Amino acid sequence: MKTPTLFNLFQGIKEHKNMNMKVSQSNCITTIELFAGVGGFRIGLKNAKHSNKNFHIVWSNQWEPSTKIQHASQIYEKQFGYTNHSNEDISKVKTSDIPDHQMLVGGFPCQDYSVASTLKNSHGINGKKGVLWWEIYRILEEKKDKAPKYLLLENVDRLLKSPASQRGRDFAIILSSLNALGYAVEWRVINASEYGMPQRRRRVFIFASKKDTTFYNNLKANSIADNLDKTGLFGKAFPIKKIDSKKVITQQLSSDLVDITDNFNKNSPKTNAFLETGYMIDSVYHTAKIETNYSGKYSVLGDFLQDEDSVPKEFYIDEEELKKWKYQKGSKSIERVNKTTGHKYKYAEGSMGFPDCLNKPSRTIITGEGGKSASRFKHVVKINGKYRRLTPIELERLNMFPDNHTIGVTDTKRAFLMGNALVVGIVERLGNLILKEIDEI
Ligand SMILES: C[S@@+](CC[C@H](N)C(=O)[O-])C[C@H]1O[C@@H](n2cnc3c(N)ncnc32)[C@H](O)[C@@H]1O
Repeated sequence: MKTPTLFNLFQGIKEHKNMNMKVSQSNCITTIELFAGVGGFRIGLKNAKHSNKNFHIVWSNQWEPSTKIQHASQIYEKQFGYTNHSNEDISKVKTSDIPDHQMLVGGFPCQDYSVASTLKNSHGINGKKGVLWWEIYRILEEKKDKAPKYLLLENVDRLLKSPASQRGRDFAIILSSLNALGYAVEWRVINASEYGMPQRRRRVFIFASKKDTTFYNNLKANSIADNLDKTGLFGKAFPIKKIDSKKVITQQLSSDLVDITDNFNKNSPKTNAFLETGYMIDSVYHTAKIETNYSGKYSVLGDFLQDEDSVPKEFYIDEEELKKWKYQKGSKSIERVNKTTGHKYKYAEGSMGFPDCLNKPSRTIITGEGGKSASRFKHVVKINGKYRRLTPIELERLNMFPDNHTIGVTDTKRAFLMGNALVVGIVERLGNLILKEIDEI
């Protein structure tokens, strides 16, 4: 474990004192944040409030496998304090070192969750090494009756469709393994911009609730269609148009993960087994397509830009560079050679809107958003006749983070961290609803 700096220690003590005060003043949902990055869940949950209830992060974990310097973890500690934060590979952390908690949150990577029969042993499921879903599973399983009552997870929407050769198999494994641990699971693909937030970012949010909790009991008590569009967590927090009950797909899930690995959706591997919203309870899942029902104000990219006077000059693109950007964004057809087979083929792509439109929500921020080199996917805006890239502060704003949350590392790193993060407004809204509805704290 790393030695805390004096600054970190001081921050940690301050935070700890604050937390203790809050514990005695209000009803807290004790929460741990895994795969914490720079703390998107934590900011969203901190903003969430209902009467005297709030969330209290009792432990967090962040470890970046690909770099020696732990930028995200350093920023997390700087912003939230050193105490109760772990910067270790989660697979090396013992469950007994993680405090008991009522809710577990985190954005875990989309990987291959398949289970091989040879890996099945008497102690439960052994997924592939390095597949982080199994770390969440391990904590839930080893905590036994102290396991959290709720989970709130985030992932790319591709999770519902992967792997491409057997669509939905990986999500079916997640659902079935949570079912075995006594959870009901709700999910929804949410595009933040469709609910008035600044960025077009489609992510799947997953909420699991343990048997006998308010949310679990609600799912049991209400009709399938109501749970999907009205009475479930997502139906309440992110309104959608009424779902025609005839269009809901209902399926039984196998409780055998090896059977799911080998056979799930085998007969129609290209058909989506899981649609944009759904829930699973007692090993049966219901899923349907959605249409957003939002009548509030929409946000546009232009609303989140810094004053031009405060934009450093390295973000501007000169005449010479502009040609490269226009080429990247334009339509083209290029001859490529397959490195393994030597086969030549034509790669074609259409043109992209250039510069980015200021009157629409931004496109999705990706991890490669930073750096000067011309790219197809980085944002470029045109202000007062001049082209420029977005600044780290603007990228933070598009995720609804506070300005300069990631200050202290290079601009390219800051962009990377925002490309990995989430739109915190979504977590805040879900957090508000959880606090409002929950009885058992
Ligand atoms: C999708 S990002 C989550 C970002 C976060 N929600 C935020 O707001 O910044 C996943 C995070 O998991 C971390 N991670 C990857 N492997 C890990 C491991 N073995 N143990 C702990 N964290 C890991 C990555 O460094 C990354 O920050």
